[in-house]
Amino acid sequence: MSTLTALDIMYDGREVALRWADGQTRRFHALWLRDNALDPATRSPENGQRLITIGDVPLDTHISHGELTDQGVVLTFAPEGKAATFTADWLLENAYDHKAPERVGWIGSALETWDHRLNGHVPSGDFQTIRQDPAALADWLASVRRFGFAKLTGGPAESGALLRVGELFGFVRETNYGKWFEVRSEVNPVNLAYTGLGLQAHTDNPYRDPTPTLQLLYCLENTAAGGESKVIDGFRAAQRLRDEAPEDFDLLSRHCARFEYGGGAGVHLTARRPMLELAPDGELIAVRFNNRSIAPLRDIPYDQMMAYYQAYRRFSHIVDDPGMAVSFKLEPGESFLLDNTRVLHSRNAFSGEGSRWLQGCYFDKDGLLSTLSVLEHAQRRAQA
Ligand code: FE2
Repeated sequence: MSTLTALDIMYDGREVALRWADGQTRRFHALWLRDNALDPATRSPENGQRLITIGDVPLDTHISHGELTDQGVVLTFAPEGKAATFTADWLLENAYDHKAPERVGWIGSALETWDHRLNGHVPSGDFQTIRQDPAALADWLASVRRFGFAKLTGGPAESGALLRVGELFGFVRETNYGKWFEVRSEVNPVNLAYTGLGLQAHTDNPYRDPTPTLQLLYCLENTAAGGESKVIDGFRAAQRLRDEAPEDFDLLSRHCARFEYGGGAGVHLTARRPMLELAPDGELIAVRFNNRSIAPLRDIPYDQMMAYYQAYRRFSHIVDDPGMAVSFKLEPGESFLLDNTRVLHSRNAFSGEGSRWLQGCYFDKDGLLSTLSVLEHAQRRAQA
């Protein structure tokens, strides 16, 4: 628990500066504090939802009085005459008085990018263990959050077992491919993924809007020669492009590509999105890359189209660089879950001898992060 040691009410109460025992100081605006008051008239004690609109907060809100307590600070807001308590921990967790990121393409501190050096250290969990032990489930889900993927071993080698993995953290995202789809050699495939060809690393279904954010690939048979699964950290690849050729990174992030799929009866999916998607503050939030489903590019200015192609080619070379890849062979009952907004996947070519049968399905990342957040809160409560 953190402790506040000083309170300075500034600018006629429109701002305050708070100092913590470790010496750090954070400023807050009175309007922001009033809007975020945690009293039962502002936020529902039952569900935490806000009970007021921004219009209910007076524009001339200022702090008329403030007092430090053991837990934090009590502030009185004028003209409402409302007193609200804020704990020192809550204020520190929600503080916004910090420098804006300087470089585009930054990623959150909870993420860790990787390259081929992760070979042999692939994050992994055991199906039976994570089913029974919430701490083990939290560890496995946290690996997916941190690295963008994790392997799971020890599952049943049964058709449909992938749904039992998904039940542990979320809900299936059903598509025109069904609740789940089969990945194995076919004589007349409707999608190149169903042949024995090697595939360039890609994110799945960039032609959907929104794109599926998680994919689970579950192995049922794998006696074919080759066919190892391969993953590439798209965020590492994007940051490498940014560092090696910033102008190329700008081109791929500032212009929309187009993606399209019309390979099945009654289906025609299109989406217009950048290959490298940034938040307005420059955070790298998604990579879309799929040579099989990129559509004719129509949204790049004429005089920049050749430069865009050069950037696209450079990014493709980075994706193909063996130094970026992590490979592993899945045995029956093994699977891996990946963040489809970040991690590209592929497989090596495999021969027609023996068999390779995977099942895949999509989930959404918000469900996984919600499950993980609940597990982590429960762990913190148990430790407190
Ligand atoms: Fe795929």
